[in-house]
Amino acid sequence: MAPDDHQMDLFNSAAVTQPSEPVEPELIPTSARVPVPPGTYASMEKMSEHCNRCHRCGLGATRIKAVVGRGNPQAKILIVGEGPGQNEDETGLPFVGKAGQLLDKILESVGLSDADVFIGNIVKCRPPDNRTPTQEEMDACRPYLLEQIRMVDPGIILLTGASAVKGLVGDKRGITKIRGEWIEWEGRLCMPVFHPAYLLRNQSRDKGSPKWLMWQDMKSVRAKLDELRAESESAPQKI
Ligand code: URA
Repeated sequence: MAPDDHQMDLFNSAAVTQPSEPVEPELIPTSARVPVPPGTYASMEKMSEHCNRCHRCGLGATRIKAVVGRGNPQAKILIVGEGPGQNEDETGLPFVGKAGQLLDKILESVGLSDADVFIGNIVKCRPPDNRTPTQEEMDACRPYLLEQIRMVDPGIILLTGASAVKGLVGDKRGITKIRGEWIEWEGRLCMPVFHPAYLLRNQSRDKGSPKWLMWQDMKSVRAKLDELRAESESAPQKI
């Protein structure tokens, strides 16, 4: 075939709708000992296919759907939760239950929407009975989160709850000790905050209450985002 014909074939609808190359199951690391090198995934969708076949830890045996993320994959803020619950396991989307509804309200309260954030979790599969993920499970799933951070390239990472802090930056202190203080990690700014599920159990809005503290932390995240945006607008444009 002449090179031009081959080129024109790419415009042919049959060629465009051909299924992509199937992922070879034997190439998928099913053991947590096999590394997932940075740059393995070209897109969140490719990673999601892989996560839905993953057995790097025991959680793969009981999941309905792996929960990879939602929101804007080019967002400046990446939000990291602990792990999917029942609603998330069923839908394949993070933070869609009661805690998720509260998270959306919290974001809205500082003028943020889905367009400003990408939301994911430390572990992509639901721990049975919504228990806390183990260190082993978090370690097995970590390469996926690192790939998400590489793809989204956020300036700010919001770590909701102690598991998110422990799983990403390795700090094992309780969330009440570390919330509200910026942590620099791999050239990015991480803000540990309370998990929305904790706020559901602590409804007071009094000064010093968990909800009030969350509000202070979110104002600080909003201010940092505005600062980063102003910096990138004033930076000389690369031609
Ligand atoms: N809690 C989390 O940490 N993540 C979810 O996706 C839902 C609830």
